Amino acid sequence: MKNRVNIGIIGFGTIGSSVVKLLLERRRFFRERTGIDLNLSIVCDKDLKSKRDVSVPKGMLTKDVDRVISAPEIDIVVELIGGIHPAKEIIIKSLCSGKHVVTANKYLLAAEGDDVFKQAKENKRQVLFEASVAGGVPIVKAIREGMVANTFSSILGILNGTSNYILSQMSTEGTSFKAALKEAQQKGYAEKDPSLDIRGLDSAHKLSILSFLAFGKRVPLNEIHVEGIENISPLDIKYAAELGYVVKLLAIAKRYGKELEIRVHPTLLPSENLLSSVSGIYNAIFVDADLVGKQVFYGEGAGKLPTASAVLSDIMGLAYTIVYCNESNKYVAPERAEIDKVRKMDDVRARYYVHFSAIDKPGVLARIADLLGQYNISISSVVQKERRAGQIIPIIMLTHEAREKDMQDALKKINRLKTIKRKSAFIRLEK
Ligand code: HSE
Repeated sequence: MKNRVNIGIIGFGTIGSSVVKLLLERRRFFRERTGIDLNLSIVCDKDLKSKRDVSVPKGMLTKDVDRVISAPEIDIVVELIGGIHPAKEIIIKSLCSGKHVVTANKYLLAAEGDDVFKQAKENKRQVLFEASVAGGVPIVKAIREGMVANTFSSILGILNGTSNYILSQMSTEGTSFKAALKEAQQKGYAEKDPSLDIRGLDSAHKLSILSFLAFGKRVPLNEIHVEGIENISPLDIKYAAELGYVVKLLAIAKRYGKELEIRVHPTLLPSENLLSSVSGIYNAIFVDADLVGKQVFYGEGAGKLPTASAVLSDIMGLAYTIVYCNESNKYVAPERAEIDKVRKMDDVRARYYVHFSAIDKPGVLARIADLLGQYNISISSVVQKERRAGQIIPIIMLTHEAREKDMQDALKKINRLKTIKRKSAFIRLEK
């Protein structure tokens, strides 16, 4: 029986070099643990000059992608370059030349996963992607295998380590947004283009993958409502804390019968909610399913070692298949018919935290309350700070559950009042 599995890696950056290091250093450990010899054959990157913290035998390095994809001895191609192009072409070519593929590329899978999985199916090969969501937390396997017998009703996740790190630093250390982002970049958590992190798009990519696994519905990215953390002010974090809430960037998918609500935005969580204590680069996913009930998955969601751990788990998963059971197609799941409608953001219902910047004059509060009332929005609490001469005062309100469209329309009217001096900021709440 062949027990050696040959691996080619494309992308020798932060994650790639950790995977390379572990494959070289732990070869014996893997062999003893599984009976399988994971042999790193070739590593490809367009930049072979930058210093990495692993040394690789010279003949193992190449700039030529085709040397990986076309080498007949390679069993598994690991794509770690990220982005859509040329990662998509590399993966598709690899599948067409009979390789299995491991990838951490959430953007590609969320945006164009259908094409990739179609090719995998046609070529009877697998594409595994544990590292694409939540770094070292094995949430992909948990949903696809561990909870396969369940029907899911909701997924609530903190899925972006960089944003969570920034919000945590802003709230506990008083660090500015810019400084916290810089720290996250220096620590290697952020995407090459960090706007993907802070604008909520990276979370949306990950939510799209989890939703497909849990609900069998591939929601086009442009149908996911996405807001990032770039407009969250330190003041709002402070006022929210005074009211007993924490601001988190949440990725939310909830099922209502045959309808799916799917959104990413900053959210107020009561400080006693489990997700509120998830800080720094940690990720957490709160799953509600009919058989297991409520489950929380928690761990490091970004960074080279947790992500490399997930990549290696997929490599090993494929190696088991290659060595012990030949190839199988068990992970190429077709779209299912469970969901037939994606709820419009306008129809989403939530509680809201609203920050009005007003002039302190008789009747201002009454006018705001009246306009909210006209749109069926009921106030559950109000805080107004003492006036200092000539200052605009913050009026902070929490509302009962309201419809998004009503809130948006009410705010448009309120923002036009002469006594309102800045665009009112709002953050949705989750229980
Ligand atoms: N930039 C991502 C994050 C890395 O901050 O979570 C992990 O996908």
